[in-house]
Amino acid sequence: MADTTPTGSPSAAEQREAALSEAQIAVHWREEELIPPPPGFQEHANADSGILERFAPENFPQCFEEYANLLTWEKRWDTILDTSGAPHFLWWKGGRLNACVNCVDRHLADRGDEDAMIFIPELEEDEIQHITYSDLHRRVNEFAALLRDFCGLQRQDRVSTHMPMVPELPVSLLACARLGYIHSQVFGGFSGEACGMRAADAQARILITMDSYYRNGELIDHKVKADEAIERARKEGVEIEKVLVWRRMPGEYHSDSPMIEGRDFFVDELLEDYRGQQVEPESMEATDTLFLMYSSGTTGRSKGAQHSVGGYLSYVTGTCKYYLDIHPEDTYWCMADIGWITGHSYILYGPLALGTTTLIYEGVPTYPDAGRPWRIAEKLGVNIFHTAPTSIRMLRKLGPDEPAKYNYQFKVMTTVGEPIEPDVWRWYYHSVGKDKAAITDTWWLTETGGFLGATLPGLQAMKPGSCGPTVLGIEGVIYDEDGNEIPKGSGVAGNICMRNPWPGLMMTIWRQDQRYFDIFFSKYNRDPNSKDWRDWPAMMGDGAVQAADGYFRILGRIDDVINVAGHRLGTKELESAAIEAEEIAEAAAVPVHDETRGRVVEMYVALKPGYEASKEIEQHVSDTLVRVIGPIARPKHVWIVSDMPKTRSGKIMRRVIAGISNFTDVGDVTTLANPDVVESITEHVQSAKRAAGEVPDLSAEAQHEIKTFGADSE
Ligand code: WT7
Repeated sequence: MADTTPTGSPSAAEQREAALSEAQIAVHWREEELIPPPPGFQEHANADSGILERFAPENFPQCFEEYANLLTWEKRWDTILDTSGAPHFLWWKGGRLNACVNCVDRHLADRGDEDAMIFIPELEEDEIQHITYSDLHRRVNEFAALLRDFCGLQRQDRVSTHMPMVPELPVSLLACARLGYIHSQVFGGFSGEACGMRAADAQARILITMDSYYRNGELIDHKVKADEAIERARKEGVEIEKVLVWRRMPGEYHSDSPMIEGRDFFVDELLEDYRGQQVEPESMEATDTLFLMYSSGTTGRSKGAQHSVGGYLSYVTGTCKYYLDIHPEDTYWCMADIGWITGHSYILYGPLALGTTTLIYEGVPTYPDAGRPWRIAEKLGVNIFHTAPTSIRMLRKLGPDEPAKYNYQFKVMTTVGEPIEPDVWRWYYHSVGKDKAAITDTWWLTETGGFLGATLPGLQAMKPGSCGPTVLGIEGVIYDEDGNEIPKGSGVAGNICMRNPWPGLMMTIWRQDQRYFDIFFSKYNRDPNSKDWRDWPAMMGDGAVQAADGYFRILGRIDDVINVAGHRLGTKELESAAIEAEEIAEAAAVPVHDETRGRVVEMYVALKPGYEASKEIEQHVSDTLVRVIGPIARPKHVWIVSDMPKTRSGKIMRRVIAGISNFTDVGDVTTLANPDVVESITEHVQSAKRAAGEVPDLSAEAQHEIKTFGADSE
């Protein structure tokens, strides 16, 4: 649509400027106190007092050799950091290793009889499984033999997995790593369609899944999703040849979906032919690809973060050691799902590379009640605990006094995925940690492989609501829209960037080099031809403020991405799913603050001519989102409106809608093409919310996030 701005009122470009500068408005934060590390921690901590000096900026990039030296290499690297393809940075070039060997084989001699994993089924009466490093070695080798001989793949071919939280998931991934296949696990809670889209993008020929799993006490049919995934991949032009179906209860099939002859195979049956087999691990280049992890961005399609074997593994191992303070004899529990990057880095690869015991819990934290996590911790002697603010808020809401009833003691507790409210932080510290555990608030992204902002638990003080300084070997900085540094302690927000690359940074976005450049580097790159890493600050897409002491406070995404319960969903992805409902002409997704889940989605939709607003259409939109994406995308409300607030160039102003849904200031709307709709939508939505008692009380950070929501794409 043409820009028909009359002279005198601001143009679309000017409006855009105004929206962007809001990202820099000083907000009056309440500065939280620093809480020193727990006494006595330092004596046993992995991170010694010299570590900050060893990782000082002048020691970059060789400081990261300390991480690489934690691994077992077949051949040492020739080059620490190769920048010749900047901004595609290659670490440990010339080095050779195998990730599976590092996570399994190398522990056999010393820790073969120790638990590598402990599997806790959701049903409390079901037996807990202890899987030693020797057991894990056997299971991975047998499955690798099956994959190699039955599937006919080559090194670096892709294997998609759509597995729930059961030991067969890490077994499948480690078997791929052993053979040099690139795995791409799709979160089990995602729909079959979402899985199919990702498998098609990865051009996978094999899909590994499971028939069923427990969630909230119910056995869920999961295999049906494989059928949908294959259909969807086929529509995208990719033919998946084989579906390997693990059975939750070997020998029993719990799914209504028929097994397709010649395509679908039960793994437990096939495995009979591979009992006791051993598979020689592939010798991989450090710069080969270990896996793809899909994540949402500002366009409709999700993108595959492509992580390397050597750089990634060294980074997650080093950060696990120092920031989670993992020792082999610890019992470590991260409640995330292996289907997200947190699970890859900090349930699977990092902890196993260090030879510790990592827990795999099948179900939801509050099943059958909010005491479950603390019973598990007590029973298994968990001493390092890792979770997300959304779970902490839920556990506090449903069982504030539960932790006190159980006899466990954590030394380190982590929070990840979204900013944690200082009040929630304090409950975590006092009630869950019993005033004795260090909290590490770890800020990072799917694309970064591992932590970017966090405190060293034995050395650096904690600050509720702030992740801390940037981590060892990485220098963070906040730039304004023009690339000027925003000084520490100014109270002014801007775009948080990393001045230098690090080994965990993905190598690229799978088959989309240009997008990799556009998203992370285009804004602040100083010279597109430069081979010097100093010219390539990486923009992470979060707004942040930096206190005078260097601690960063993350304010949330500055793009059109909604962080639901700690996971990113793109607005475009949500909107294109919503318009799959035939009644819908146009849709806009916005984040709404929610007491327990952090952010939830609200959908605004306009109907095609001939349709009348009804509860059924609202329900249909909601069901469509769940079908296309998964339950995580279920909107809190669907609002049917006559028209969306739009700029004169026809762009939907999501920021305005977000303001309405959150009861915050919608800003100047006089320049919209249709300013009058704002009033009618406000009346419609807010009166319904008032009646339902849904008027949120937003923190300064939350208000800032809503104000700047989608500002970069207006
Ligand atoms: C986005 C990345 C990294 C694993 C989980 C999410 C937000 C993440 C924190 C934190 C404040 C956080 C950011 C980031 N985020 N951790 N500790 N404090 N915000 O991975 O789905 O790639 O999402 O999550 O906004 O950009 P992801």
